[in-house]
Amino acid sequence: MQFKRRTHTCGELRETNIGETVTLNGWVNTRRDLGGLIFIDIRDRYGITQIVFEPTFNAEAHRLAKELRNEYVISVEGIVRKRPADTDNAELPTGHIDIMANKLIILNEAKTPPFPIEDEIDTHEETRLKYRYLDLRRSKLQKNLLLRHKMYMLARKYFDANDFVEVETPVLMKSTPEGARDFLVPSRLHKGKFYALPQSPQQYKQLLMISGLDKYFQIVKCFRDEDLRADRQPEFTQIDVEMSFVNQEDVFETVEGLMRLMFKEIWNKELQLPLPRLSFDEAMEKYGSDKPDLRFNLEMVTLNNVFVNTNFKVFKDQIESNGIITGLLAPGCGEYTRNQLDVLTDFVKKLGAGGLIWMRVKEDGLDAPIAKFLSDEEKLNIISKLSAKTGDLIFILSGAKLKALNIMGALRLEMARRLELIKKDAQPQLLWVTDFPLFEWDDETKRYFAMHHPFTSPRIEDVQYMESEPGKVHARAYDLVLNGSEIAGGSIRIHSAELQAKMFKALGISDEEAESKFGFLMKAFQYGAPPHGGIAFGFDRMAMIFAGESSIRDVIAFPKTASAVSLMDDCPSEVSEAQLTELYIRVRK
Ligand code: AMO
Repeated sequence: MQFKRRTHTCGELRETNIGETVTLNGWVNTRRDLGGLIFIDIRDRYGITQIVFEPTFNAEAHRLAKELRNEYVISVEGIVRKRPADTDNAELPTGHIDIMANKLIILNEAKTPPFPIEDEIDTHEETRLKYRYLDLRRSKLQKNLLLRHKMYMLARKYFDANDFVEVETPVLMKSTPEGARDFLVPSRLHKGKFYALPQSPQQYKQLLMISGLDKYFQIVKCFRDEDLRADRQPEFTQIDVEMSFVNQEDVFETVEGLMRLMFKEIWNKELQLPLPRLSFDEAMEKYGSDKPDLRFNLEMVTLNNVFVNTNFKVFKDQIESNGIITGLLAPGCGEYTRNQLDVLTDFVKKLGAGGLIWMRVKEDGLDAPIAKFLSDEEKLNIISKLSAKTGDLIFILSGAKLKALNIMGALRLEMARRLELIKKDAQPQLLWVTDFPLFEWDDETKRYFAMHHPFTSPRIEDVQYMESEPGKVHARAYDLVLNGSEIAGGSIRIHSAELQAKMFKALGISDEEAESKFGFLMKAFQYGAPPHGGIAFGFDRMAMIFAGESSIRDVIAFPKTASAVSLMDDCPSEVSEAQLTELYIRVRK
């Protein structure tokens, strides 16, 4: 179909254009046929413009306009005029003008879309994902993709200006055992062998430091076959960063500079630097999370001191077994009903707690099922430690340290939700969490795992405990947390083959296994590896928060569902027998 090139976009015309003959191309957003007059809103990425078809102005165009339906693709030529009095639409940037059409070309017809192309729709997400190309016509999603684009550009400009080099790393790589599960790709040329898709370019970026690239970054897809959560996708994007001859402070400075730029350019907010820091231990004790949301106060308080000499067996046992007793004050919740308290008890039980201790703060002291087991001094100390006032409610949990703190952290978030403590216009809260443990104990497999990854350096002063007391070793690892979401994580790396071998040993990785899985990296370390460290941003999460969305799917053009399915092209899908044969693969029924 012949069409005229547009002279303007659908978001461009203003009163200064009145009188001009223009051509617009786009989609029919809405159509109102008032018999004599037909009004069409034409839409493209840039905006919406009203077109008027009037039989006395151009009979042929008016006749053809009767055929138009929503989402038809059209080209319109006409004259810009000032909208008649009272028909202005102040909400549209183009709302003071419209176009008297004298020529209409229908470039393509469209079936009725399965949902309206509007911002606020209550269509089920599955339908939206199935017709994602239509979903993406909605201005809300277009805005998100444009914001994402702006963030790519800011990041690229920032790193370029600071001497970083963008280097692409392979998408087909060697399968490594740590972290999440790998997505595997069978090799046709090498029977029985597999590539893995990178969970991150971690090893490559370390190799690039050994190569002398000095400062590397990459906006890169990563792949993890893990159980999905609201803020996870099986394939996601990182801004991956690595630097040589640096310590933690240098990495922080680089990252803080980028965040300041993003805050300014996207939110028009001044970010105060340096960012606040919390150690992992502090974050866990006060907020029950290694990604604390600091947009509201509610702090947890460790009460072990209050109960050092207690006769209450539950607490006494915990203190003797190195556990923790943690308290949380719910201000003004002293009148919660038994039913409300039961719901919260169920909430913590589902997370693995034995139960939830609660106490109402009354004029004359604490009213609680366990009150009779506590001394007057203990009760007074609880009240003063938590700064509790009459009418408040106190929660106490006890148990193994990290587990109890995590559960209380979840209760803290739940109370914030119930008490509506996170205001819509709350200032964003960005901070570093530092000094993570190097190892994480896994009860199921009865072994230590690397909390970050096996290339993370222990704090030098802690190296001596790597064999004797691995649980005591802290890592030179850090996370960047925005509004309770981990948006980046990194570490200073091990750069000596000897320390790396020690690390593998502590993780129970045998010499042979280390050699076969990471031999190339260990070998590279023997050829002059500089001290180095880095970080990777979860780009989708970051974009989600900057866009004010609550799902990362809303900032990804073609996301997968929570069960890792792409509904639009129906993948994963079966493949032909011939394809399988070629790959030496047989699918077990
Ligand atoms: P890490 O595993 O912490 O570190 O990942 C970095 C950041 O990536 C984001 N992220 C995800 N986003 C969406 N979906 C997922 N499935 C997902 N998994 C992680 C998080 C996280 O903070 N190589 C190291 C970085 C380094 O040490 O330099 C790494 O990948 O926001």
